[in-house]
Amino acid sequence: MPELITPDPRVQASFLEAHTEIGTDAGHGWSDADRWLGLMSGREPVQRVESLLQPEAFAAFCADQRLLAEEDAPRPDGYVADTVLWWVDGNQWLGRLSVRHRLTRSLRDIGGHIGYVVRPSARRRGHATAMLVAALPVARGLGIDQALVTCDHDNLPSRRVIEKAGGVLEDRRGVKLRYWVPTG
Ligand SMILES: CC(C)(COP(=O)(O)OP(=O)(O)OC[C@H]1O[C@@H](n2cnc3c(N)ncnc32)[C@H](O)[C@@H]1OP(=O)(O)O)[C@@H](O)C(=O)NCCC(=O)NCCS
Repeated sequence: MPELITPDPRVQASFLEAHTEIGTDAGHGWSDADRWLGLMSGREPVQRVESLLQPEAFAAFCADQRLLAEEDAPRPDGYVADTVLWWVDGNQWLGRLSVRHRLTRSLRDIGGHIGYVVRPSARRRGHATAMLVAALPVARGLGIDQALVTCDHDNLPSRRVIEKAGGVLEDRRGVKLRYWVPTG
């Protein structure tokens, strides 16, 4: 049974293997491997995947990802604390989700509270939907009663995920559809 966990070094091999699937991720323009790592770590690309091959380096990466949830952790201007969770089945890394603790103006317009990605080889098996539903109590625990979740208007898989998780469409701003998902 897949579960949400905080970033854990035990899934290193699978996490790195997922990175090699970028070549099959047609459709959203993520053809650059380091951009993919940025997506998998929730930040603009700052590290190359080669830098995570050593177990110690990967453990440090996991610790950094967990640290993002701390309110007083260092972060770039404009970023808020976010709880990063990995969707894993045993030692298999399937995807990533993050819950931003509060909305900035830009998150309110575009980014929303929750972002997620499923590795290409694991798509179309319900993982994103299950992962988002599993994260709703986490958001609730952070004091978020209604989670804002957004997606590009033409990202049909993500629209389905949000709607199946109970999302209610508020509006479209630019290319983004903005949904509110009750967390309780
Ligand atoms: C969007 C994404 C997370 C969906 O992950 P997933 O695990 O494949 O999603 P699910 O299996 O839960 O599928 C959800 C729904 O989308 C549908 N779907 C999935 N891929 C699809 C596709 N390529 N075309 C049309 N529908 C698709 C599924 O059939 C399912 O609908 P259904 O239950 O009515 O059949 C995944 O495609 C991804 O990581 N994309 C890149 C990152 C991204 O777009 N993140 C979201 C940003 S808002």
